Amino acid sequence: MTQDELKQAVALAAVETIKPYLGTGAALGIGTGSTADLFIDALAPYAREIGGTVASSERSAIRLKKHGIEVLDLNSVRDIPVYVDGADEIDHGMHMIKGGGGAQTREKIVAAVADRFVCIADESKLVNTLGKFPLPVEVIPLARSYVARQLMKLAAEHPMVEVNWRLKPDGSAFMTDNGCVILDVKGLSIADPVELEGRLNQIPGIVTHGIFARRPADVLLLGTSTGVRTIT
Ligand code: 5RP
Repeated sequence: MTQDELKQAVALAAVETIKPYLGTGAALGIGTGSTADLFIDALAPYAREIGGTVASSERSAIRLKKHGIEVLDLNSVRDIPVYVDGADEIDHGMHMIKGGGGAQTREKIVAAVADRFVCIADESKLVNTLGKFPLPVEVIPLARSYVARQLMKLAAEHPMVEVNWRLKPDGSAFMTDNGCVILDVKGLSIADPVELEGRLNQIPGIVTHGIFARRPADVLLLGTSTGVRTIT
């Protein structure tokens, strides 16, 4: 099976996890990325039974609305029983690196509100140690150089560390939905994601980074060549 077919399989499996909430008025949390896009498309037949959704990006909000699925402002929502989203990497402790699409700030907020985080990923995303995928760090624009220098101090433990300002193909700065920029940190090997998440949280200028360890996934739907595995 191709990677796209594995993503499609987990997207369909994720629809089963939200079926108990159809017709109940519950708001669903919806993630961002190519796997989340397939999940959104798979929700289309149920548009009228979905009470509403909270999207973790403008991109997902637009896609949901195209399918006639209502998108709610998080400020008007108290409870989100389930949040379905992809990941760039996930380890066996259900810690993740997210933010390849630059949406980690809203993703972390929606994940914090949600009772249950269902991660949907193809098998290439499951790793023993997080860090091969460059860690996305969303930064207030005026703090970019300062934060980059602080991140370079990780070289004490990660000698190969490299910090890159994320640019678009035309060379202009990639801007997040929150008007911020992204620094991608290469060369990490994250032995203790909970500790590093906390340490990076202390750097002024960082809005959110892509380590999701203090709020890990609750369920992983993993697309493999032999079928979708449910890991809890
Ligand atoms: C976006 C994310 C995505 O969940 C992550 O990048 C995975 O994307 P894809 O499903 O396209 O592999 O965190 O900010």
